[in-house]
Amino acid sequence: MTPALPALVAASVGMKAILQTSYGDPEQVLAPGELDMPVPGDDNVLIRVRATSVNTPDCIATLGVPYALRLAVGLSGPASAVRGSDVSGVVEAVGARVLDFAPGDEVFGSVWTGGYTRGAQGTFCEYTLVPASQLARKPAHLSFEEAAGAVMSGVTALQAIRDVAGVRAGTRVLINGASGGLGTFSVQIAKALGAVVTGVCSTRNVDLVRSLGADHVIDYTVEDYTKGDERYDVIFDNVMNHPAAASAAVLAPGGLFLPNSIGTNRWVGPIPTLLFAGLFKPKQWRFVEYRPTRQNLESLAALLESGAVRVVIDRTYPLEQAGAAVAHMMSRRARGQIVLQVGEPA
Ligand SMILES: NC(=O)c1ccc[n+]([C@@H]2O[C@H](COP(=O)([O-])OP(=O)(O)OC[C@H]3O[C@@H](n4cnc5c(N)ncnc54)[C@H](OP(=O)(O)O)[C@@H]3O)[C@@H](O)[C@H]2O)c1
Repeated sequence: MTPALPALVAASVGMKAILQTSYGDPEQVLAPGELDMPVPGDDNVLIRVRATSVNTPDCIATLGVPYALRLAVGLSGPASAVRGSDVSGVVEAVGARVLDFAPGDEVFGSVWTGGYTRGAQGTFCEYTLVPASQLARKPAHLSFEEAAGAVMSGVTALQAIRDVAGVRAGTRVLINGASGGLGTFSVQIAKALGAVVTGVCSTRNVDLVRSLGADHVIDYTVEDYTKGDERYDVIFDNVMNHPAAASAAVLAPGGLFLPNSIGTNRWVGPIPTLLFAGLFKPKQWRFVEYRPTRQNLESLAALLESGAVRVVIDRTYPLEQAGAAVAHMMSRRARGQIVLQVGEPA
């Protein structure tokens, strides 16, 4: 039986949201506004958002850079007005076919469906709709902020390290960008699987990366890993500041290279890397396609519950300061995750 929609939804009350109408400086183009409350379809869950986090797709869609990606995001402005895809919060109402969640459940998940289509849900707002298949129960000991910060970075890292690279005990793994959102999860997940982990970061983040369990830390301000004598079974590159061939040159025989960054080119972003891989199909290369399925969220929740993995949060901003939060992420200096807190703190 479908639980009755709360009076709030039925009356189509407005909600606060951060709205974007054009591309530009996040502190200029992301402004508080109001939207109608969404109403769940049959397979959706209406969530009262307690926290969300900032990820690379939010930066791309805010700035419209790399420019070539405007073909996907929207030519003159973003196709959808609300940024954000990670969410944690409390179930407010469920669609007719959703049998495994009920109002009051504390959950975490993602609205990401792989694109930026017109009318797509975002999470920089008070309520959002999440497909039930992309939602899991929030680990009880995690704050809403930690749970929201875990979604895209944690699931992508899990897919990369466990599924794509097949890391196991003794695998020598190098993680470039070890102190960022993806990196902090990747170091811990690789360690949890028994790998010998090398993290690459700058001087100020060496202690952080070591505290996450890295066996070796390379400070890129004093040493270039592509010129060293060490060889690695897996290189997970979240920065792409070295030519792919230079990274691949320090792979052990049979090793795997996982390019995983938009890179630094403002015009074409990752397109040359993708074209090269498409044309030449290098045997050593593997890509990671983010899939926030319930199964992946539950695997991540188990790692978080066991204490093997923790969520590193650089800074939490109130929803109203979403522009400053996205600007922080764009600095490429974030240590772990940038989180937005929605509504009153618990
Ligand atoms: N495959 C997918 O579906 C998927 C999903 C999500 C994200 N991604 C990609 O993953 C990439 C990383 O995302 P993220 O959230 O981890 O980014 P992030 O949090 O913005 O990364 C910031 C970190 O990068 C480090 N960094 C910057 N320059 C570096 C360098 N030259 N060498 C080593 N580290 C450096 C910084 O450390 P320092 O301050 O110490 O330099 C900082 O801690 C993005 O490009 C994104 O496109 C892919």
